[in-house]
Amino acid sequence: MTVRPDTATNWVPRLAREQDIPALETLIPLSVRSLQAAYYSPEQMEAAIGPIFGVDRQLIRDGTYFVIEQDGQLIGCGGWSKRKSLFGSDTARAAQDDALDPAKEPARIRAFFVHPTWARRGLGRAIMIACEQALLEARFRSVELVATLAGEPLYAASGYTVVERCALPMAGGLSLPVVRMTKRFG
Ligand SMILES: CC(C)(COP(=O)(O)OP(=O)(O)OC[C@H]1O[C@@H](n2cnc3c(N)ncnc32)[C@H](O)[C@@H]1OP(=O)(O)O)[C@@H](O)C(=O)NCCC(=O)NCCS
Repeated sequence: MTVRPDTATNWVPRLAREQDIPALETLIPLSVRSLQAAYYSPEQMEAAIGPIFGVDRQLIRDGTYFVIEQDGQLIGCGGWSKRKSLFGSDTARAAQDDALDPAKEPARIRAFFVHPTWARRGLGRAIMIACEQALLEARFRSVELVATLAGEPLYAASGYTVVERCALPMAGGLSLPVVRMTKRFG
């Protein structure tokens, strides 16, 4: 099965490498503080940066995390996962992230972040197409994700439907409203 882009895009995601981690650690908080500011308080964003919004090195090791570069700078990232975790950086995880069974369980879409200067230019959509192509090749037939309120419109535009609205507990008695979403491929 081939995932066809529904809009023309010139962005070509490439797989992330270990050497990209410092640039990802700069990009992710920059994206959060700008593009989530309309949805979350500064306190919520700061509590989530690190444990919830951070690099998951397991995805890079698995070859399931993509980046987009422009003039040598990382301007977008995002990935999919064949493991159980639905969100969060690897540093927030106590145990190994176990593998999913593609025959029975949905793959995950994980950790999309775009540089604010490059928002609404199709990067998110381009990374989503690369992820869906790869997870279909890995024989998954459905996908689950936990979206931020900032991410929900991208996923809705990509055919994902809302399962549940809930909130992730965070340090200091704070919580982060999020949306569980799903998509099934025919
Ligand atoms: C969510 C995010 C990755 C989207 O990336 P993006 O490159 O701006 O998205 P795209 O340009 O590919 O958008 C594709 C479509 O999604 C929808 N969309 C994306 N952002 C939207 C917004 N802010 N408002 C309304 N619709 C939006 C639109 O339908 C859009 O198509 P259009 O521009 O032709 O109307 C980006 O906003 C981001 O990094 N946010 C902060 C981090 C975050 O919360 N990530 C989600 C983690 S779950």
